[in-house]
Amino acid sequence: MISRFFAHLFPVTFNKDTLLFRKTGYLGIICTALFVLLGITGVLLLFYYSPETATAYSSIMFLEEHVVGGAFIRSLHRMCSHMLLVFAALHLLRTVFTGVYAARKKNWQLGYIIFGLIVFEAYTGYLMPMDQLSFWATKTGMELMNTLPAGVFLKNLLMPDDVGGRLTLLRFFALHIVFLPTLTLMLISAHLYNVRRDGGLVPMLEPEKVKSREQLVRFSLIISFAAVAVAILLSVIFKSPLELPADPASPPNPAKSAWFLLWIQEIVSWRASLFNAVAVVFILCYFLPSFNKMHTDRAVWFGRSGRPVWVFMLLLTVFIVVLTIIAVYFRGANWELVPFYY
Ligand code: HEM
Repeated sequence: MISRFFAHLFPVTFNKDTLLFRKTGYLGIICTALFVLLGITGVLLLFYYSPETATAYSSIMFLEEHVVGGAFIRSLHRMCSHMLLVFAALHLLRTVFTGVYAARKKNWQLGYIIFGLIVFEAYTGYLMPMDQLSFWATKTGMELMNTLPAGVFLKNLLMPDDVGGRLTLLRFFALHIVFLPTLTLMLISAHLYNVRRDGGLVPMLEPEKVKSREQLVRFSLIISFAAVAVAILLSVIFKSPLELPADPASPPNPAKSAWFLLWIQEIVSWRASLFNAVAVVFILCYFLPSFNKMHTDRAVWFGRSGRPVWVFMLLLTVFIVVLTIIAVYFRGANWELVPFYY
């Protein structure tokens, strides 16, 4: 029954060119599986989490120490959110490097919004434990946003009584468990529906090894379970951190934002106004399909059509990864460059 459901969701036309899922790396499928697991673990956490400033930390502490499997569910939820960010980014890059973003303009734009929502979802989740790590990561992230033209407005909207305030935690909680997941779920459904409406994926140039729809469905299920297994394994190896309770009077030095925002923090450390340039690049990426008028209806890895676009995206990716590594490992007290900091 499950395989029939999948077959209905991801139809492929039956000819040798269009049986092409393998060449996509199943990245969209992996994102779907991780999103589902994220939702399940999130609901389980809700049985114990208390979104009150006075009790949020102790409710997580209780979950970690007194609930059977509590620490594991928390780690798994966190690991899924990290993996979803990484795999959604890889999926996005796959569509650029094979050139299909231009032929599937609507799905590119929808996917891009979904990506923004996933990042926002991860950011709002950071505050939930109300420990030193989450408090200062959220505060630093908000200070970054403050440098944007509409930053102060957004900050007042999201944080009426500042990080650590009762209303702020409540707003982050409402966004994190209702508004953002519901919106993301709706957009992912539309995204998948578009794949179906477009008659499947853009065909690859080379023949694909997947031979039939049944095989495709089987592969998709295997990949989904493999993604879940890897998430479970990683969450057993890397436990979720829980530092001391948030203390607004004791900032760590350096105070670092969430890992996926660290590259922006690095750029802002050079010059605050550079964040505006980052924002402009990100807005322009939404219109990426318009920069490639010469697209073909074939997916080709690093093809000639749209070369400037994929070269730009490749450089941007390398840039972001390098800055993230610098910010994570080589920025010490007062944001000084140090040989190795962890
Ligand atoms: C949780 C987030 C996402 C989920 C669950 C998801 C899911 C999927 C799935 C299952 C497919 C079909 C199979 C495949 O390509 O693997 C697909 C196709 C596609 N996705 Fe996503 N996606 C997500 C995010 C994104 C993002 C961030 C972008 C880009 C900005 C994007 C752009 C596209 C495009 C353009 C296609 C069509 C590819 C083609 O026709 O070859 N998606 N997505």
